[in-house]
Amino acid sequence: MFNSIKAGGTGRAAALVLAHFKGQPLDGASKKRDADGSAAAALKRGEATGDLGRVVEAFPTGRGAHGRVLVVGLGAKDSFDADALRTAAAAVARRLAVTRDPSAEIDVQGALSGVRLDAERAGSAFGEGLGLVAWNADILKGAAGISNNGRPKPTLTVRSVHAAFNRGLKRGLALAEGANLTRTLSQTPPNVATPMWMAEQARKLARKTGMSCTVISGRRLKDERLTGIATVGAASENKPCLIRLEYRPKGGRAGGKPVVLIGKTMCYDSGGLSLKINNTMAGMKRDKDGGCAVLGAMHAIATTIRPKRRVVALLAAAENSISDEAYRPDDVLTFRNGVTVEVTNTDAEGRLVLADALCWACERENPECIIDLATLTGGVVIALGSTFAGLWCDDDALRARIEAASAASGERVWRLPHHAEYRDMMKSTVADVLNSNPNRKAHPIQGAAFLSYFVEKGVPWAHIDIAGVHVADSDKGPFVAGPTGWGARLLAEFLDGR
Ligand code: BES
Ligand code: MN
Ligand code: ZN
Repeated sequence: MFNSIKAGGTGRAAALVLAHFKGQPLDGASKKRDADGSAAAALKRGEATGDLGRVVEAFPTGRGAHGRVLVVGLGAKDSFDADALRTAAAAVARRLAVTRDPSAEIDVQGALSGVRLDAERAGSAFGEGLGLVAWNADILKGAAGISNNGRPKPTLTVRSVHAAFNRGLKRGLALAEGANLTRTLSQTPPNVATPMWMAEQARKLARKTGMSCTVISGRRLKDERLTGIATVGAASENKPCLIRLEYRPKGGRAGGKPVVLIGKTMCYDSGGLSLKINNTMAGMKRDKDGGCAVLGAMHAIATTIRPKRRVVALLAAAENSISDEAYRPDDVLTFRNGVTVEVTNTDAEGRLVLADALCWACERENPECIIDLATLTGGVVIALGSTFAGLWCDDDALRARIEAASAASGERVWRLPHHAEYRDMMKSTVADVLNSNPNRKAHPIQGAAFLSYFVEKGVPWAHIDIAGVHVADSDKGPFVAGPTGWGARLLAEFLDGR
């Protein structure tokens, strides 16, 4: 939609953006910006419903007037939240992409006076909405030119005269940049985005932002007893790896315990020998989206959030394929922590690569806490649809922090249970545990129960199953049909101020 949207610029902007709630005229502060009354007059037109995202235009005259005023509807005041502002911002960006104004001043503070959202948070939400909607879904379009009207995409600079809101705008655009990196990686097809290609992207990000990056692959996977990654990835020509990124604060508590973020990075999930049938395989290029979200979060963390503690990212990357080297149902694997696993289904592969990362985190990273993101089960899509991700976290303090980050980002999580009975469900007669119980019960919870065998007692840990939320099937708010970048903003918010 845009070539880029950046915060900044000086002088009078080409467009001025005001806002109003449904059923309300211009507020006092906005009226002052409307010297000739053209915006107030525009709000009297029938189209000016005030519905969330409805944009009406005015063309003021007189000395020093902006070329164009957009008044965006914020919907009903009593249902207003940060997400409404993201949607309103997206509507403004869509209009500005059409008008091709090069710059816009955002002044929605007057309309927002009296709502419970501080100016910086409001600015951030607005910036997120602008940045997210500007993501280009056509990165893979080629020479046929079907999606391209021949004109270069516009660029836009945005600013606000309200200092806190303006700070927020910058932050929000940066968060969206992280989420958009996640989306672009998600969109990249599996013939390009192999595990080692993902490692290359992580290396590039590290170089660009001053983080360190190490990649464990080949023989070293076996030396380090990273059994799950080596086993799941064995059948593919595209070799598996564990990608480790580390953010270190300048000064701060560089020596303290890190927060560890883990992402399932299944570059393609064919199901393996337990092959996905009836085209349920289509879309499985996005089975790497947990890892993509962690990378997007690390981008925002290293460039903008800059917490005072270390953050370690672990991406367990593999392609679940088939060949004579493929692992099989009936194989028994021994993991780094000594736990043995009977494979009953090679399509329950995500938990096997995550098990390695969880063991590694507990043993090697001395974590303050661990959060893993994974497109782990189809069952969570059945249970929660695309409205909430599934959250498993029995540590009250960690869960409270995740829920706060969830509220700030609008990336919703819903708690699901751990219980000894689910752990028992995973017991095997030939090994310690099964990777999947064929009883067809509670698959998302089985996944979480399986993972719990690889987390040391006492380590605060959260598992988030994002299979329902990492992709949208229609345009909604600041999102277009396609990858949502889910988790990048949640994780960035989680580390904000820490
Ligand atoms: N990557 C899939 C989960 C998935 C399914 C994500 C649909 C997004 C959309 C995962 O590896 C998988 O195949 N899970 C199986 C687990 C089962 C074999 C225990 C599932 O959910 O069917
Ligand atoms: Mn699978
Ligand atoms: Zn999978």
